[in-house]
Parts: sequence; structure tokens; C-alpha cells
Amino acid sequence: MSIDNERDLLALMRIGRIVGQTLQHMGAALQPGMTTAELDDIGARFLAQHGARSAPILTYKFPGHTCISINDEAAHGIPGPRVIQPGDLVNIDVSAELDGYYADTGGSFAVPPTTAEKQRLLDTTRKALQAALDVVRAGQPLNVIGKAVEKVARPAGYGILRELGGHGVGRGLHEPPHNVPHFFNPRARQRLTEGMVLTIEPFLTTRAIHIKTSDDGWTLRTEDGSLAAQFEHTVIITKDKPILVTAV
Ligand code: CO
Ligand code: CO
Repeated sequence: MSIDNERDLLALMRIGRIVGQTLQHMGAALQPGMTTAELDDIGARFLAQHGARSAPILTYKFPGHTCISINDEAAHGIPGPRVIQPGDLVNIDVSAELDGYYADTGGSFAVPPTTAEKQRLLDTTRKALQAALDVVRAGQPLNVIGKAVEKVARPAGYGILRELGGHGVGRGLHEPPHNVPHFFNPRARQRLTEGMVLTIEPFLTTRAIHIKTSDDGWTLRTEDGSLAAQFEHTVIITKDKPILVTAV
């Protein structure tokens, strides 16, 4: 969607704050020994307390309130009986709806004890998101995002998952523009415009640039088993710095 009035802005910021807080709340509760279903439950309760509904359930009948993806799983991991282990990299992706408005956020967490290599992957992925946030503004082409992410990922020796792009969001979970590449695509020349709402969510890996779908039909893994990390914000494009809808 594109924001051009105060009412839309306030409603979007409201759900943005809730999904941001849900992610933070789940990250704080994350502990080795718990199952991903237990972690999802904590998120589900928090969303419900704030009147929000899980967007993946509403939109895709996803079998969980949030997506929880571990190690080589990049996205759309189904919460279930899997027990979180010390040293795991856990990605939590939270998207939800309130009053017809949607916001989407995500982040990866290292379950202690972790390694310097895993920490470096997380730090670099967060830096890649920040680099993209620093360059998006009205008038720029979409591909400034991928260019900024590449500039961080490449010297660090990391892969960028090509199939997993950002997307428009706001009145639905996935709206135009449908694919905002996190690698430099010279053809992604569509201009960012004032008020445009989209996600930026680079997926970096220790090697892979492609994913494969698991037998469960949902979970997206790196094709070679390498580790993946992601950080995501929903943003509103302005003439200057973007508004971070999902920051808390
Ligand atoms: Co997301
Ligand atoms: Co998203």
C-alpha cells in the first residue's frame, strides 16, 4: 500500500509496533530445551493479547502463528516438536493483522553457547539490512536495496538467497512490488515513491544462494545445508530516511 493520510499511518504503525514487540518478546523467551511449538505459543498469546491475528494463518493457512526456522532453514519453518539446541541459529518471523492493516518483521538469534562464525553471520546480516535502510528514499530505483546488501555481504564472503525478496505490505501480507531483490538486479528499476510500504529482509548464508523446499511443503532450506540468517523491517518510503514501522 501507499500511505497518504494520517489514519492509515497510525493504523499501520500500531500493528508494526505489535509485531515488533512480539518478535522481541519471543527472542527474550528463546531458550535451549524448549520446542519451537512452545516458542510459537508465546508469540501467539502475545499477538492475541494485543488483538492482532497471525498473517500467515489468515493469508496462507500456515500451520503456525509465526515462522520459526533453525540453522539451514531460512524461512517458513513450521513450529512443532523440534527441541531448540544450544548453539542453534533461530529465525523468528512475525507478521500480523489488526483492523485490516498488516506488518511483517523478523530476526535471527544465536542460542548460547554460540561461535564467532555464527555471531559474524548475524552481525553482517544486521549490517546488510541497515545498509539498505540507509539508502532507500523516494526517487531511487528498487535495486539500490540489493546493491547496498551486496556491498556488505560480498566482502564478508556470504551468499544472498536470491529467491527470498522483500515485498509490498500493508492491506495484505504480500502486495506489489512483489519481489524486492536483495542482490543487485539491474532490471529492478521501478522507482521507490513517497508513502510506499515495503519490507526489507535480506537473507545471508555462509555459502548458498539458492533454497529448496522441504518435504513438509513449507520450510525453505539452503540447498547445500549452509547456515542462514535474516533481519526484516517493514518501512515507509519518504523523501529522506524511511519510517521504521516495525522498530520498537
Ligand atoms: Co517476515
Ligand atoms: Co516479509
